Amino acid sequence: THVVTENCIKCKYTDCVDVCPVDCFREGPNFLVIDPDECIDCAVCIPECPAEAIFAEEDLPADQLPYIKINADLTPKFKSITKRKGALPDADEWNGKPDKLQYLEK
Ligand code: F3S
Repeated sequence: THVVTENCIKCKYTDCVDVCPVDCFREGPNFLVIDPDECIDCAVCIPECPAEAIFAEEDLPADQLPYIKINADLTPKFKSITKRKGALPDADEWNGKPDKLQYLEK
């Protein structure tokens, strides 16, 4: 599967959802996840993300491995999103900031 990682938090650009052929993105208040049961590993979302937050599971940086479980756990709680809706207001400011997990809203 593919995995949305920490740099999506407080950015949520949503460019990724427009290209997903199987509509596997799920939206929370300030983060998106990928439904691991729906993702077909096509990888088209990876270059779309301005925050470079999406990785194939096998390419995840070591410090982002917890996001495998975070994506899986939040999938049933978050709602399907299939159309781009514009980033969060301070997305550009938060893009690249470290240690954003503490801000993840569930
Ligand atoms: Fe998040 Fe990047 Fe999509 S910031 S909402 S994974 S385009």
